[in-house]
Amino acid sequence: MVYKDFRSDTVTQATPEMRRAMMEAEVGDDILGEDPTVQKLETMGASMFGKEAALLVVSGTMANQIAIMVLTQLGDEIILGEETHLYNLEVGGIAALSGVQARAIKSHMGKFDLKDIKRAIRPKGVQSPVSRVLCLENTYDLNRGYSLSPEYQAEVAGIARANGMAVYLDGARLFNAAAALKVTVAQLAADVDALQVCLTKGLAAPFGSLLMGSRAFIDRARWIRQRIGGGMRQIGHMAAAGIVALESMVDRLAEDHVNAQRLAAGLAAIDERLVDLDKVKTNIVQIDFAPVGKDALYMTEALLARGIKVKPIGETSCRMITHYGLDAHDVDAAVAAIRDILCK
Ligand SMILES: Cc1ncc(COP(=O)(O)O)c(C=O)c1O
Repeated sequence: MVYKDFRSDTVTQATPEMRRAMMEAEVGDDILGEDPTVQKLETMGASMFGKEAALLVVSGTMANQIAIMVLTQLGDEIILGEETHLYNLEVGGIAALSGVQARAIKSHMGKFDLKDIKRAIRPKGVQSPVSRVLCLENTYDLNRGYSLSPEYQAEVAGIARANGMAVYLDGARLFNAAAALKVTVAQLAADVDALQVCLTKGLAAPFGSLLMGSRAFIDRARWIRQRIGGGMRQIGHMAAAGIVALESMVDRLAEDHVNAQRLAAGLAAIDERLVDLDKVKTNIVQIDFAPVGKDALYMTEALLARGIKVKPIGETSCRMITHYGLDAHDVDAAVAAIRDILCK
């Protein structure tokens, strides 16, 4: 059976143009600074995001962890959102690799209450950890995909800066946020000290994230990447796909958002309690099967039998993400399959 895979935008596969570019890439030993294709990708990234420098790393997780290693000292505290990847899905890396503790705060559709940020910042004192970094995520929550505006980011960054903190942005899906808000990624990067963006999600490259920031930040990040075994040799083959991703896959993300709206509307037409339409902002749709008396595993298996893959994320909820590998026809087929299962 050919499956339609809605579990994540990470399942996207390299486009024909990427495959050609990977094969033909001019490469060199990147640890020695001799891979022209990596250099081209890093220069492109830095200029697109308005930062001094960029570094290609293996994954979003590695980018996040290197950033925290660069920006903190042992025993520091970082402030982040309760639903973030950094807090929940990086194997305790901030503790294991940086020796820092997390102060996790609640958000409302991705936004922190400014009072909560202020309250989370430690007063200076002999017994207090130092509040060192405020970590943002945009889009926020990989099961929701809320976008945060440049204005909101500037406001929270202002609070952090006034308290001597750095601001780091996990922008795994920052291009989705930019598409949803109709702003540039440079606008979304303007008020943060450092950020990462994933090439492997909606942009469909098979590899890599770009970590970006000041020249000094990236110099230090390169050194730490080497320490943790992330230095790479003829990785220009992979960087070549990243270049195609930045050049040709950004503008089509709006299509994924249209398809997510189509999916959400289709689900709401089956039963309006299945989906909260107000919370579908980018390419992620969360479905709650509790009101129709079904659990997530039952629905996941029943959909799999019909050739549709979805991700269970709770006892009664599933996530579906639209991406390059799925079109409106696939969305309609998924809605029809869900209708068929629920109406049995
Ligand atoms: C918000 C966010 N940050 C970071 C990551 C980590 O990226 P990677 O899977 O490349 O390590 C993900 C992956 O899903 C993510 O959604």
